[in-house]
Amino acid sequence: MVDKHLMVCEVRWPGREEASLTVELASDGTIRRADLYGIGGPAFLRALCDLRARLTGSWREVPLPTGNHPGALLLRELLLKARGEWRFPYEDEELCHCRAVPTAVVDQAICRGAHTPQKVSSMTSASTACGTCRPDVEAIIKYRLQQP
Ligand code: FES
Repeated sequence: MVDKHLMVCEVRWPGREEASLTVELASDGTIRRADLYGIGGPAFLRALCDLRARLTGSWREVPLPTGNHPGALLLRELLLKARGEWRFPYEDEELCHCRAVPTAVVDQAICRGAHTPQKVSSMTSASTACGTCRPDVEAIIKYRLQQP
């Protein structure tokens, strides 16, 4: 019997950073082997090296990357997805129906620094008509920035 569990996860933002994580776990949940690779700018690669150094011991206790720079947000997503803990708060493809703004566009704006609903509106035009979608924009900001 093979005493291991293998997880593979990839996250990429078109035209920007991307990361790939493969983790092999022992039956007690400790990390037996972890391969983390990525492509991106210097800040992203520093965050990636920091996370790589922390991929030891209990898989469930590896701390999530901190900070709100795009690299930290991407690596947090990667780790949460690899653990099966990614709970993105909005499921539909289109978030703002008045302006026909896709959810992915709103999410990308948040990841690129639009950390308030006003900034998301100015970058994407979402929430600039009836305002019904604004709570969903706020929920994504809160989730991405890990705000309680
Ligand atoms: S649904 Fe977004 S402004 Fe109306």
